[in-house]
Amino acid sequence: MQRGTSSRIDRLLEHFEPSFIVIFLMMNGKLAKATVRMESLAPAFDLAASKWAERLGLPIEAEAEFALQVGREGLQLIELAQNAAGPIRADFVTGAVAHRRLYGGGNGQMTAKAAGIQPGIRPVVVDATAGLGRDAFVLARLGCELTLIERHPLISALLEDGLQRALADREVGPIVERMRLIGGDAIDILSAWNGEPPQVIYLDPMFPLREKSALVKKEMRLFRPLAGDDDDAPALLEAALTLASHRVVVKRPRKAPAITGEQPGYVLEGKSSRFDIYPKKTFKAEG
Ligand SMILES: C[S@@+](CC[C@H](N)C(=O)[O-])C[C@H]1O[C@@H](n2cnc3c(N)ncnc32)[C@H](O)[C@@H]1O
Repeated sequence: MQRGTSSRIDRLLEHFEPSFIVIFLMMNGKLAKATVRMESLAPAFDLAASKWAERLGLPIEAEAEFALQVGREGLQLIELAQNAAGPIRADFVTGAVAHRRLYGGGNGQMTAKAAGIQPGIRPVVVDATAGLGRDAFVLARLGCELTLIERHPLISALLEDGLQRALADREVGPIVERMRLIGGDAIDILSAWNGEPPQVIYLDPMFPLREKSALVKKEMRLFRPLAGDDDDAPALLEAALTLASHRVVVKRPRKAPAITGEQPGYVLEGKSSRFDIYPKKTFKAEG
């Protein structure tokens, strides 16, 4: 996400109204608002914390159910209740998950196949539901250029921070340079797209049933209150189908129904996920 990354990210956060920074929680089946405060984890991070607080419109000292914290490991979001799951952050460099993402597979991975990666073919991709950027990173590592779109300002901030930290890493830096982040709603952004259409648009909207791995569970405990269930996925699929030149890919839990609307041309099934492919045009290898 180089190529003018910080100015682009500065611009993206202008789209977010500070009053939007509340977390929506499902409580007794109803949506309720939860509060978020900004915290610095050590005096060395006070300045960074106050900058984030200002950009995101978060209070620094306030009663809150969640905290966006800045510390040695970067920006992270944590639920403050007792027995809550640990913090989530976007981390492309350290830990087992980053390692697996970095060394875990080549063109044969489901995500790569679904996006149309083949020898000599590295599609230009828009990941319109970027989340913490994990799927996008898999594609960037294999050589694709990506635009990532994330509408939730807190998730987008975590992703921005993760990408920024990764840029400094000798090995991972060149990969995340291929990842450009835009904040905002992908339905609007795809509908107003200017310039060359992306070859592939990748969608992974939230869905009530998700995979049960410990990691996903922990992240989903925080993600779901934040992002909700992405009920507008049909409109997003429609915008993606209108714009993509070669294919739209939708990641779903294996047993979930396809997104309402046009039906996929074919399906790739994995252990816990499924990829619904909406083909528009065949890829041609370069050279
Ligand atoms: C399941 S998560 C995606 C996880 C991601 N694939 C990853 O690998 O980290 C879905 C994300 O899509 C975002 N999202 C859903 N609909 C969107 C839209 N119309 N525009 C932008 N972001 C959207 C949600 O805020 C949420 O962060």
